[in-house]
Amino acid sequence: MGKVVLGVTVGVAVAACAVAALVVGRRVRSRKKWKRVVGVLKELEESCETTVGRLRQVVDAMAVEMHAGLASEGGSKLKMLLTFVDNLPSGSEKGIFYALDLGGTNFRVLRVELGGQRSELDPDVEHQPIPEQLMTGRSEDLFDFIASSLHRFVENGNDSVQSSIMKELGFTFSFPVKQTSVSSGVLIKWTKAFAIKDMVGKEVAGALQQALDRKGLNMRVAVLVNDTVGTLALGHYHDADTVAAVIIGTGTNACYWERTDAIIKCQGLLTTSGGMVVNMEWGNFWSSHLPRTSYDIDLDAESPNPNDQGFEKMISGMYLGDIVRRVILRMSEELDVFGPVSSRLYVPFALRTPAMAAMHEDDSPELTEVAKILQDVLDISDVPLKVRKLVVKICDVVTRRAARLAAAGIVGILKKIGRDGSGGITGGRSRSDIKMRRTAVAVEGSLYTQYTMFREYLHEALHEILGEDIARHVVINVTEDGSGTGAALLAASHSSSGSVDNIQLV
Ligand code: BGC
Repeated sequence: MGKVVLGVTVGVAVAACAVAALVVGRRVRSRKKWKRVVGVLKELEESCETTVGRLRQVVDAMAVEMHAGLASEGGSKLKMLLTFVDNLPSGSEKGIFYALDLGGTNFRVLRVELGGQRSELDPDVEHQPIPEQLMTGRSEDLFDFIASSLHRFVENGNDSVQSSIMKELGFTFSFPVKQTSVSSGVLIKWTKAFAIKDMVGKEVAGALQQALDRKGLNMRVAVLVNDTVGTLALGHYHDADTVAAVIIGTGTNACYWERTDAIIKCQGLLTTSGGMVVNMEWGNFWSSHLPRTSYDIDLDAESPNPNDQGFEKMISGMYLGDIVRRVILRMSEELDVFGPVSSRLYVPFALRTPAMAAMHEDDSPELTEVAKILQDVLDISDVPLKVRKLVVKICDVVTRRAARLAAAGIVGILKKIGRDGSGGITGGRSRSDIKMRRTAVAVEGSLYTQYTMFREYLHEALHEILGEDIARHVVINVTEDGSGTGAALLAASHSSSGSVDNIQLV
């Protein structure tokens, strides 16, 4: 009997030991796995590092590339495009003007009534999503669609469509265009999600004008502008110290006011104001100082435009979500912390930036929004809290880098025009000797306006790079629908009744 009891006791002890060994083994394996996950995160953090020293190198590179792009055609990846906008709205513009704003996933139609005094503007605005097939189909279909929407918009307003008085339209077209005048230009290439082959190399305002004529709209395209230029126009209308405008939305770009004598590639360019707005197309900026990860390299290689828009691919709303998707995919494949690898993780752009921002800004203790988005968007369920925290951290690293690089870009412009307090590109004077002028930068785009963490990181970096003394002279103003409203303002200042062509190429 005693032997039996002993036998059972030993058996139980052996079994308990085996279970314990199993549990410990599992724990050790899971701890090791977690260590490797943390390793992947650490590697991401290190390769996204944006110390203030590195940001200053990006600032310098941006200023140098701006010089190079102004010196010769093709002298830099920064195209530094002439806009033929040599005067910003003065506030005395009067009348009713229309604008069409095409460039992101939505397009907008606007009607603006200008009273002649720098008054508050209250445009009628209609937003419309662009059907995806139109972004990659035939140009005529896209322009007919836009013209129909404009026709409906005019009809629904108080104006008659076929009135004998010609209406003036500002056309905001947010892609790289080689302008031939303020109201005409040729598309250089598409960016973002657009890829209409038959349009590249074609005159843009002409294509719209033909579509308007086909619809019987008595309207003239008075100006063709980039969205940054519209934003600068509205920014300047509200704050005369505005010297530059930046868009951080689906894509990213900046424009600024430049002296004509600094535009060396266009010798003999004369404007009465002595200056002109330059569309930098900074989305295509590149420098070896940019902190690039293997995820960026893969994203670029798999994009329809490899080696193009490198800065944009690290900063703008079109891409941030996809960088995060790639990091989660790698962790899921290599370390199975997200359970079986979800097939949704292989779908390019499955995780859009608004969903990523919502996860990043989830402040619930259990990160319920993160769990919901992982489930609804990526089909990943039952993710433990510590893994949800990991996802938030990935979003943070990707967004922080983007915002800080955008800040470095802005300071690059300030440096180029001598407004960064460093005494310009040649430097020499100490910061305390320099009398800083108030400098305003107009900013627009959903990433900046709707993503609080992004905005805060951008401001923080501006202060770090410039230092508090200089930073307090630099104001960031958000404009609302500036890209469109600004185009209407520019249509007014370049309207057939009021404008004289002040630009000469001698
Ligand atoms: C385009 C720019 C535009 C920017 C913001 C970029 O992809 O190339 O022309 O200003 O997006 O919309």
